[in-house]
Amino acid sequence: MVRVEVRRFARRDLERVVAIERASFGKDAWPPELFLEYWRASPELFLIAQVRNQSAARRIAGYSITRIDWRGAELESIAVDPLYRGRGVAQALLNATIVRLRSGALRLMVGTDNEPALRFYERFGFTRVRKAPRYYGAGRDAWRMRLELEPSRPK
Ligand SMILES: CC(C)(COP(=O)(O)OP(=O)(O)OC[C@H]1O[C@@H](n2cnc3c(N)ncnc32)[C@H](O)[C@@H]1OP(=O)(O)O)[C@@H](O)C(=O)NCCC(=O)NCCS
Repeated sequence: MVRVEVRRFARRDLERVVAIERASFGKDAWPPELFLEYWRASPELFLIAQVRNQSAARRIAGYSITRIDWRGAELESIAVDPLYRGRGVAQALLNATIVRLRSGALRLMVGTDNEPALRFYERFGFTRVRKAPRYYGAGRDAWRMRLELEPSRPK
C-alpha cells in the first residue's frame, strides 16, 4: 500500500484522466467531452487519486465517477493506471465516494468477464443483483452490482 490522496477532479486533470482511461479501456475509452459532462453534473463525486512518486511529486494514479439520479447513486466508472494497480488506489477512491454519499446504496454495472473488477467489488462487499445480457454489445454481458451503505462503517 502507498499513501493515496483523494480530491475532487479539476479541469487541468483531464489529459491525465483520459490517458488512464485509454490505458484501461482501449477502444471502449470514453472521450474527453464525456468526462467534462459528468464533472458538470456531479463535481463533488468525480474524484482523483494521487500518489507520490520517487521524487515526492504528486502523480494522478486513478479516478472514479459517481452520479446520483432518481434511482440513487451509480458508480459510472473507475480506473487506475496499470502502473499503480494493486496498491489500494481504487479502494481509496471507493472509500472516499462512500464517505461523501454517507448512506443509501451504491450501484454499478461491470462486464461479466472483467475478473479483476469483479474481485475488487466483491471484496468491497458489492453483491451481484442480476445479469444484463448484451449490456456492452453483442456477446458482452454485464452484472448489476449493489452495495448497501452504512454510515458508521466505511471500510
Ligand atoms: C478494477 C481496478 C479499478 C482495481 O484498481 P486497483 O487500484 O488495482 O485496486 P486496489 O489495489 O484498490 O484493490 C483493492 C482490493 O481489490 C481486490 N483486487 C483488485 N485488483 C484485483 C485483481 N486484479 N485480482 C484480484 N483481486 C483484485 C484485492 O482484494 C485488493 O485488495 P488486496 O490488494 O488487499 O488484496 C483496476 O484493476 C482497473 O483500473 N481496471 C481497469 C478498469 C476497470 O475495469 N474498471 C472497472 C470497470 S466496471
